[in-house]
Amino acid sequence: MNIGVLTGGGDCPGLNAAVRGITRAASLKGWTVTGIRDGWRGTIERETFPLTIENTDGILDVGGTILGSSRTNPLRTPESYTQAQSVFDEMGLDALIAIGGDDTLSVAAALASDGHPIVGIPKTIDNDVPKTDACIGFDTAVETIASSVAHLRTTTMSHHRVTLVETMGREAGWLAALGGLASGSDFIGVPEKQLNIEDVIGHVHQRYDSGTNFSIVVIAEGTEVAGLDLKNAAVQASDEFGHVILSTRSIAEVVAHKIEKVTGKESRACVLGHLQRGGTPTTFDRVLGTRFGFAAIDFLAKNKHGQMTALVGLDIKPIPLVEIGGKSRTLDESYLKLLPPFV
Ligand code: F6P
Repeated sequence: MNIGVLTGGGDCPGLNAAVRGITRAASLKGWTVTGIRDGWRGTIERETFPLTIENTDGILDVGGTILGSSRTNPLRTPESYTQAQSVFDEMGLDALIAIGGDDTLSVAAALASDGHPIVGIPKTIDNDVPKTDACIGFDTAVETIASSVAHLRTTTMSHHRVTLVETMGREAGWLAALGGLASGSDFIGVPEKQLNIEDVIGHVHQRYDSGTNFSIVVIAEGTEVAGLDLKNAAVQASDEFGHVILSTRSIAEVVAHKIEKVTGKESRACVLGHLQRGGTPTTFDRVLGTRFGFAAIDFLAKNKHGQMTALVGLDIKPIPLVEIGGKSRTLDESYLKLLPPFV
């Protein structure tokens, strides 16, 4: 068997662990592995290279992806989809493993529905792929947020300020919620729950009135804030999957400005941005990537096509790709009720 592998969408730490795991598991079966460059772009433009034990050695703890990534969407035109489909015949691939978030997996689901042998692996720092308890990259990003807030806290305390920390997270607030919880932040805003600017201001007043003269507010880029004039994200440029670049809303900056104006307390914004997508994967993400890689090869060996490797509890299970593509897993009440402020 010759297995194609691609990584699509926003990169994250732990992708290389999955690529390495796939290569090792395939090699144990006597199979070969072909790396496809830059996600679905490589299927359309036919850019590949062989993956071997040797060229995947030493990449386990390296962030990013040696395959490269892009947000190319082959479903955007019939021609590009036909071109992507033809990789199986024209590039001699017996099966394909697509490592990605909901967008990349939606293309994998379409290919699976059209009868192609394909397995998906979930990755995204947003952690919003349905039916898996974790996606590659999320754990590392939470660590980055928590350590960043720890750095920000000392300067915030020294200057008796309010610091607004903006995390990624479009429709799901996993990053803000767990990053904020893990760092003991004082207020957490997530896309699942519309914020009222008066509540944020009330929180700041309360902190200072009770004698604590600083506050850390963590807010996801996709949070809606009633009572604030945020830039209309809908008019911003969007990617091939139709997503707008939410960081252009400048939510942390706008909220910080409003807080300072109303309360008189010095406020600053810090956008963590792509720092959240970089760095060395945590041991959790290294092991998860490796396990998903081995599981994907195992699924193919057992003819379990059209499935995604999912972490369910402590086990890895197959979940049909058609149940995943284009959907988003958001925070549920058990997490929402943990989010400060509590007064
Ligand atoms: O991949 C998901 C994500 O990390 C989102 O949280 C964020 O909005 C987006 O990527 C940013 O993508 P880009 O790198 O294309 O600006």
